[in-house]
Amino acid sequence: YSLLPHNTFGIDVQCRRFVEYETLEEAQLVVRSLTADDYPLLILGSGSNLLLTGDYNGTVLHSGISFIEQLDDVHVRCGSGYVWDDFVDYCVKHELYGAENLSIIPGECGASAVQNIGAYGAEAKDLIEEVEAVEIATGVVCHFKNEECQYSYRQSRFKHDWHNKYLITSVTYRLSKQYRPKLDYGNIRFALAERGIKNPTAAELRQTIIDIRNAKLPDPKEIGNAGSFFMNPILPKEKYESLASLYEGMPHYTIDENHEKVPAGWMIEQCGWKGKSLGNVGVYDKQALVLVNHGGATGADVVHLVEAIQHDVKEKFGVEIHPEVNVI
Ligand code: EPU
Repeated sequence: YSLLPHNTFGIDVQCRRFVEYETLEEAQLVVRSLTADDYPLLILGSGSNLLLTGDYNGTVLHSGISFIEQLDDVHVRCGSGYVWDDFVDYCVKHELYGAENLSIIPGECGASAVQNIGAYGAEAKDLIEEVEAVEIATGVVCHFKNEECQYSYRQSRFKHDWHNKYLITSVTYRLSKQYRPKLDYGNIRFALAERGIKNPTAAELRQTIIDIRNAKLPDPKEIGNAGSFFMNPILPKEKYESLASLYEGMPHYTIDENHEKVPAGWMIEQCGWKGKSLGNVGVYDKQALVLVNHGGATGADVVHLVEAIQHDVKEKFGVEIHPEVNVI
């Protein structure tokens, strides 16, 4: 079964079996019918944050549970296969606030709860109230509160000790009736000013973020990619300060009094990689954090470029950068 339509990087590999479920009950049936032959398992969303390095000799599971349901004033529940940006759009149209900065992030709601997607000073964890999942070993339905999922920057237990233990079936988000726009991150204010907007409505903020992202991030329909390829490293204060004294104007975000986050895209650009290629794979010319498939790249081609970039960043800055995408 070809996984080419299931990964935005456009890597042409196969899996042994592909199973999709459309309801909670179907998800339970699927996990209860798995046999030893079906393993290993790969739980896939829309494949927009994934690098497949070869054929997958196992079963790929995909949620087609695609509903949206407003539970009350502020709670919205979405099936794990519901398109994330359709959820954001629903919220903005229904005066439910808090999701607007997360506009047009590719992927589905299930992944928002695994990956704690984030952009422009907002993170999914600030909205997630509860995650519903089916335990793969038993088919039992479980409910996890936000705190139990141990969210942090692009991380959750679903990526660590709960990896391949649960199929997420739905996510309940808590929005706000009060609009408190977050405008301080990056170039949002600049982009608003360019449009002559001072106090944006949520719809205007959403549209501005869509425009910013479209200008910087390649459309996977045109050029294969998986968004940011690397996470931004979080550095101890002393390390940050020694770099900042060498590189005037180095961008950074304060995490807490002892840590600063430095954009990996900036470091990659400083290493001279922006717009450069190695074979069929390259560093996007408008945003160095994004790797692109110029056509026909294999997973090994991407890994080759990744290692070359990691090596150069380590050599120049003494900093290790790690993939944000899931490398399979
Ligand atoms: N920068 C450069 N050169 C580059 C890219 C960035 O100098 O080629 C500098 C920018 O000038 C800016 C800073 O680095 O000062 C940050 O850049 P940007 O705002 O574009 O964001 P980012 O840190 O590169 C992160 C997220 C994105 C998210 C944006 C906006 C991660 C791994 N990535 O990128 O998320 O959209 O912030 O909030 O945290 C994703 O996860 O797939 C993703 C796109």
